[in-house]
Amino acid sequence: MSLHPMRGPNRFKLGVFSANADGGLTLTKVPERWPATFSEIVEVAQMADRAGFEFFLPIARWKGFGGEMNSREWSFETFTYAAALSGVTKNIALFSTVHVPMVHPVYAAKALATVDHASGGRAGLNIVCGWSPEEFDMFGLKMVDDRYAQGLEWFEIISRIYSSAEPFDFDGKFYQLKNVSGRPAPLQAPRPVTLNAAFSPPGRDFAAKAADYLFTTFTDIEAGRGQIADISARAAKTGRDVGVYTTCHMVCRPTQAEAEAYYEYYAVQQQDTASVDHYMSAKEANSTSHDPEAYRLYRKRFAGGAGTYPLVGSPNHIADELIKMAAAGFAGTTVSVVNFKNELPYFIEKVLPLLVEAGLREAV
Ligand SMILES: Cc1cc2nc3c(=O)[nH]c(=O)nc-3n(C[C@H](O)[C@H](O)[C@H](O)COP(=O)(O)O)c2cc1C
Repeated sequence: MSLHPMRGPNRFKLGVFSANADGGLTLTKVPERWPATFSEIVEVAQMADRAGFEFFLPIARWKGFGGEMNSREWSFETFTYAAALSGVTKNIALFSTVHVPMVHPVYAAKALATVDHASGGRAGLNIVCGWSPEEFDMFGLKMVDDRYAQGLEWFEIISRIYSSAEPFDFDGKFYQLKNVSGRPAPLQAPRPVTLNAAFSPPGRDFAAKAADYLFTTFTDIEAGRGQIADISARAAKTGRDVGVYTTCHMVCRPTQAEAEAYYEYYAVQQQDTASVDHYMSAKEANSTSHDPEAYRLYRKRFAGGAGTYPLVGSPNHIADELIKMAAAGFAGTTVSVVNFKNELPYFIEKVLPLLVEAGLREAV
């Protein structure tokens, strides 16, 4: 088995986020918004794979965000998605984003091992503890006070299924299980590369204990530097080394003015306003995935890319921003655009060579 892409040589790694869901990360009405048809997703996964992107990361969504488009209602389930993409890609890591409360750990352990075998050791696990009450209602579940305590039990069960020679009983607060076992173990030992998507201090502590990387948002690159120091300190207390990945939405055009004009068009003029209201209020009430000030200052960022950091500009500007993010200590970022199939080729052609020049990535 070759090295998992997330353990590969590039100093600053790149992923594609949320291609499995309609609209991608946007809440916009523009006609070219991402339709997330499976055949186009396959084309994008293959394009990213050929260009040397390290990972393909789906969003986990069960319900849309209302408004005119009801964005994300159309989204593909992430284990079956990763397994299907295994057969049509060669090198890229295929993550599954998995909701702790909705997906039983015994099932998750088996599904993740399946993806790891199907992909020749390219699976990844992105743990999400959930925040949308409407999604919990669909499953007849109540949100628990301490989502990360449940997350730790969930993660321990999966880890023990992979490592235990003998069946085991588990007697926790959230799970009481008898005679648990499961084979095969994944190809990756002790388990597939694991991210935890969170922002809050308890989320960071969970990542420090259970994940290889925190997957998190930031408002500006300097603030990101502080977040990285904070997670490193939390990880050091557990004797572990935990890196930080982040996530950006992007408009890359030949000139700064063209990029900004398109950003204004899709994220302001053509914003799906009711869905942005719905998304922002539910997210603020039920998570701390963003700095509190982000909700006040950055409505455009929520329409443009779910509150992630905007990379908007010419190829040079975007490369400069990515270089600053690498210097701040991020291990890498995901990028999301309005239409992955139409827009990624320009990024691949114009920005990736600048990152190679800067010594952040090897030429493909
Ligand atoms: C970068 C990032 C990506 C996330 N992706 C998802 C997702 O795909 N599905 C989901 O339900 N929650 C997602 N979340 C939400 C988290 O899993 C978590 O439930 C939420 O952030 C609340 O926890 P926190 O307050 O500790 O951040 C994401 C959060 C972040 C920061």
